[in-house]
Amino acid sequence: MNILENEEIEIQNEYIKKLKEIINGQKYYILTMGCTLNENDSEKISGMLEEIGYQKVEEMQEANLIVFNTCCIRENAEDKMYGKLGEAKKVKEKNNAIIALCGCMMQQKHIIEKLNKSYPFVDIIFGTHTLHKLPEDLYKLIITKNKVRDVIDIDGEIYEGIPIKRTSNKKALVTIMYGCNNFCTYCIVPYVRGRERSRKAEDILNEIEGLAKEGYKEITLLGQNVNSYKGSGYKEIYNFADLLRAVNEIDGIEIINFISPHPKDFTDDVIDVIKDCKKISRILHLPLQSGSSKILKLMNRKYTKEQFINLAKKIKQKVPDVVFSTDIIVGFPGETEEDFEDTLDVIRTVNFEQVFMFIYSKRVGTPAAKMENQIDEKIKHERFERLKELVEKQLEENNKKYIGTTQDILVEGVSKNNKNTLTGRTKTNKIVVLDADNSYIGKIVKVKIVSEHMWYLKGEMV
Ligand code: SAH
Ligand code: SF4
Ligand code: F3S
Repeated sequence: MNILENEEIEIQNEYIKKLKEIINGQKYYILTMGCTLNENDSEKISGMLEEIGYQKVEEMQEANLIVFNTCCIRENAEDKMYGKLGEAKKVKEKNNAIIALCGCMMQQKHIIEKLNKSYPFVDIIFGTHTLHKLPEDLYKLIITKNKVRDVIDIDGEIYEGIPIKRTSNKKALVTIMYGCNNFCTYCIVPYVRGRERSRKAEDILNEIEGLAKEGYKEITLLGQNVNSYKGSGYKEIYNFADLLRAVNEIDGIEIINFISPHPKDFTDDVIDVIKDCKKISRILHLPLQSGSSKILKLMNRKYTKEQFINLAKKIKQKVPDVVFSTDIIVGFPGETEEDFEDTLDVIRTVNFEQVFMFIYSKRVGTPAAKMENQIDEKIKHERFERLKELVEKQLEENNKKYIGTTQDILVEGVSKNNKNTLTGRTKTNKIVVLDADNSYIGKIVKVKIVSEHMWYLKGEMV
């Protein structure tokens, strides 16, 4: 962190002190939409609020402060926010709660205009580059009673030292880089998160070492394009492969995940590290988006169908126990039946363990939104259903392969549906349900898989 950013955090700490005297035992509710980066941001928002003296509640109706951390990756994410805002308005009418909106959606001018015009009851709006200023925004609102609008359109700085309240005490999210430079033509992220910037390796390692000391066992390194991470030479860390090796050295951390890598940047040195470092998860996310080279070019993904298949083959050859997950968009402008068949073909060839499927959604300001040949909604939905059918068939077949195998499982907690059983995950991120007493929570245990149930496997301790 540079001197200026350091000062900025000092200033916020002063606001936290002032607010502590005003906020006493008040309650906050936070709703996080979108991806793990937003989840990690929400942990920082919670950290600041709890430092001020707010207590977290799970019911919006009980809150004096309501925070929505928003996402705009697809239209349905935005629709969700408006729906929830209606609910928040009722709570405000009842107990005069403060409403604060933040996150990616707030970085879009047309959204701010709409909110100011049609939702004037929103008290605070802050963006992705001003998250650390929540204490100041809150203080200004409380003292002046004037609405606060704190959104800036810059590439963003990196602020270290923001308090953090994590949602789990075993698994931790650690952002290693912010922003994105790839400008995939369908995607809003580069416009709302700014340009790529990497955290200092020293700060990342200090954070993870601290987590290990607190008893965290699993960490997930986060960024929109983690494999374009750039280090400045601290402990010889210059790139993502170097960073992974350094994280693997940290005692106490037993599982390392990272999301998302970009296939175009999946260099051999990263594959070698995955091979060498057994702590690294054996499920790799390789976002394909489309299997058609023509569509991939229109998407600006910078790889072809063949290059993607070859990359998956190369990784599998070097690290045979690895499996893959992916993201697919159906119905990108210009996608023909033949292009869609190409996607199905790659799905069959690579045999992904998990497929996150999305229907293309037009995003204001992105190049794809202006493309001709937008696909009819009906065709998009039909293709989505066909894709889903194939994916579910493969899922069942892949699940069967686990039956009879012995897996190392990190036990996460009590099952939601049956309080007498525990759940955990394999190194390939499969949910496993097992009968065992609570003393195993947080431990890694050997489990034999006995049956498969589509979304989970059942296992017995050995
Ligand atoms: N940086 C990550 C993705 C972040 S967004 C990566 O490159 O993998 C998560 C996923 O949302 C993307 O992988 C893509 O599949 C999907 N997505 C992004 N923009 C979309 C849009 N306009 N419509 C539908 N899905 C979209
Ligand atoms: Fe979006 Fe592409 Fe960047 Fe991922 S890599 S965040 S899909 S622009
Ligand atoms: Fe959504 Fe922003 Fe993540 S748009 S997917 S919350 S980076």
